Amino acid sequence: MAAVKKDTDSLQLRRFNWRTDRLVVLSFQYEIYQTNFPGCKVDDHFIEEYSVNLRDAARNSNENLLVLEKDGEVEGFIWMSLLSTLVDPCVGYVKNIYVAPQLRGKGHGRRLLAAADEWFRSNGATKATLDASVGNQRAVSLYQHAGYEITRYRMEKRYSDADD
Ligand SMILES: CC(C)(COP(=O)(O)OP(=O)(O)OC[C@H]1O[C@@H](n2cnc3c(N)ncnc32)[C@H](O)[C@@H]1OP(=O)(O)O)[C@@H](O)C(=O)NCCC(=O)NCCS
Repeated sequence: MAAVKKDTDSLQLRRFNWRTDRLVVLSFQYEIYQTNFPGCKVDDHFIEEYSVNLRDAARNSNENLLVLEKDGEVEGFIWMSLLSTLVDPCVGYVKNIYVAPQLRGKGHGRRLLAAADEWFRSNGATKATLDASVGNQRAVSLYQHAGYEITRYRMEKRYSDADD
């Protein structure tokens, strides 16, 4: 599959190419992980492992990674997978989504999710799922406006010396 979609302002959604796109996609991971997982330090080791994961995903037919390209520059991406769960033999899972800061709020996140819906449905998925951080209100709004509903809570209790 070559270009998936093209619009008038030279934006296109196309398949991720590990050889040519990985460095820019890796550069997105600093914001994604350090924002969504406060305290997470994206270091060289993290980036090396992530690079291997991207390479493996690009070769796996149960994974799909698209990049959003504007004027030849990669400005966004989405990584999606097909999974089976305890109750569903085939569900879509959005592993990662990113739109460059200067392009946010223009509907590109929504467009990436629509491409995921298309791929999930055409591969037999009965639903789409993802995980989001409560603190990432922008992402949560995006998902809700795209039709996602909250179905589970992950709860945490913090320990501190004062509790002793
Ligand atoms: C989350 C992210 C992908 C959204 O991309 P985007 O291109 O800005 O999203 P869209 O323009 O398609 O916006 C769709 C919805 O997002 C929300 N949104 C967009 N801009 C927003 C803003 N400035 N403030 C709050 N919510 C906003 C709105 O709900 C919007 O729907 P609406 O226009 O109907 O109100 C982008 O902010 C991003 O890459 N963030 C950093 C990476 C990240 O945290 N990824 C999520 C990991 S779980």
